[in-house]
Amino acid sequence: MESILQISDLTKVYGFRGNHYPALNGLSLGVGKGEFLGVMGPSGSGKTTLLNIIATIDRGSRGVVMINGQDTQRMRRGDLTRFRREHLGFIFQDYNLLDTLTLRENICLPLSIANQTPAEIKARLSSVTQTFGLHDVLDKFPAQVSGGQKQRAAAARAIISNPTMVLADEPTGALDSSSAKVLLQTLEKMNQSLGITILMVTHDATAASYCNRIVFLKDGRIISELRRAAQQPRRAFFDQILSVVALMGEKEAE
Ligand SMILES: Nc1ncnc2c1ncn2[C@@H]1O[C@H](COP(=O)(O)OP(=O)(O)OP(=O)(O)O)[C@@H](O)[C@H]1O
Ligand SMILES: [Mg+2]
Repeated sequence: MESILQISDLTKVYGFRGNHYPALNGLSLGVGKGEFLGVMGPSGSGKTTLLNIIATIDRGSRGVVMINGQDTQRMRRGDLTRFRREHLGFIFQDYNLLDTLTLRENICLPLSIANQTPAEIKARLSSVTQTFGLHDVLDKFPAQVSGGQKQRAAAARAIISNPTMVLADEPTGALDSSSAKVLLQTLEKMNQSLGITILMVTHDATAASYCNRIVFLKDGRIISELRRAAQQPRRAFFDQILSVVALMGEKEAE
């Protein structure tokens, strides 16, 4: 499998002299093209720190992070902005849609910023609108649509520029269970039909059960990993995830 992300011995220490807090502790992880990877772990285990470093929003203290063969830890700030725009798509818990723009304008924003031609923007918009079933709400503002529709618009915006990888931090965190289900099915479809590589941080075993592989973080390290077998029903994978989560909880209580 072609490698999209290769992390080696990544360490992140927060704080100053005498007051060090290691949030990531020599973490290594490889993600192949077309994977839908879940990152789970207790609060404070380093999930958001890891995601922010992959997102090039933050830097590690030590270690290597290669995305599409490029060493992002050693890129200049100016190059990072462009790299992020060209290679990464983001889905945030609170949607991050701009209130004063319609959903259409929000979705097209990454392409407008990248100075794409109107014809190209129109073609991409029509493709993602179809994927996410957003046709009827394109001219509405975020305040005029449901949470699920906002989140689908955010997902459409994340993939409109054909990114190498989509990063999502608790994307279902603010949704009721039926909107969460629609979003997860959408992510699954993005992954399966469009072959988009997704990395999703989640607390929720149901959300995680849509992934093909889960890594479990504890104290800034990967301590366990689960892979969904070919043809394994989601329900069976969900049960497996729950048992690892329970085991991690027990270890914590020791
Ligand atoms: N800017 C910061 N300065 C100092 N310490 C930080 C900072 N950001 C995070 N930390 C610490 O690093 C550790 C990992 O934090 P992180 O946000 O990555 O955890 P998380 O797994 O995402 O947790 P949660 O599930 O609660 O979102 C925590 O102990 C946190 O307190
Ligand atoms: Mg977090």
